Amino acid sequence: MKAPELISFLKTRRSSKIAQLGAPAPTRAEIEDILTIGARVPDHGKYHPWYFIVFEGDARAQVGAHLRTAYAAENPDTPPAKLDLEAEKFLRAPLVIAVVSRIREGKHPQWEQILSSGAACYNLCLAANGLGYGSNWLTEWYSYSSTFKKLMGLDERDHFAGFIYIGTPTEKNEERERPDPNHIITFWNKDTASLNKGEPYGMPDAGLPKAGVTLL
Ligand SMILES: Cc1cc2nc3c(=O)[nH]c(=O)nc-3n(C[C@H](O)[C@H](O)[C@H](O)COP(=O)(O)O)c2cc1C
Repeated sequence: MKAPELISFLKTRRSSKIAQLGAPAPTRAEIEDILTIGARVPDHGKYHPWYFIVFEGDARAQVGAHLRTAYAAENPDTPPAKLDLEAEKFLRAPLVIAVVSRIREGKHPQWEQILSSGAACYNLCLAANGLGYGSNWLTEWYSYSSTFKKLMGLDERDHFAGFIYIGTPTEKNEERERPDPNHIITFWNKDTASLNKGEPYGMPDAGLPKAGVTLL
């Protein structure tokens, strides 16, 4: 099946800015479609190593109690006005879907299970876009807040892969700079001396990050 419309969409797609996601939200039937598409991603071993939490309507304000508690616990002496702001995070768009990566027991590597969660995040974005909505994949502080995770019922197998903010775009996004393909792609053959590893342009390879590279 050829899908030229899909190709031109993928060549031009962009996230919407969080401040530009207005009402209306997708309908309930559209949300169900978006979630079904979100779960239709490559998943080595069929673990479905992710699950979704949907925040719509009043739930977006209700979760503010947990955001406030977590922020206050982890940032003592925060002024009440700042806590109010943090509590309203999910009100920035009419629909928010959390993707939780859940590591499952099995012979397939955790790394692959985590990658599958990223694919779920991106599919949710694309599905929303395909229905005419804007989307933005954010993590922000609450993804990494152990207090928030606990209050939401996550355990040590669970990590927030992202919060997908969805709404009707109020403006068209300007283009974002993309990497030069020549810097990140190698068409390998037996004579290839070195790979294009996408080092920042004009900067020498600075070596490994100071903290090393740790995967979970
Ligand atoms: C895993 C992940 C986490 C992100 N978290 C944040 C965030 O916390 N805050 C933010 O402003 N953008 C965040 N972003 C969004 C991006 O930085 C930016 O909106 C996006 O990469 C734009 O890409 P696009 O133009 O290809 O859609 C995140 C993106 C990813 C993939």
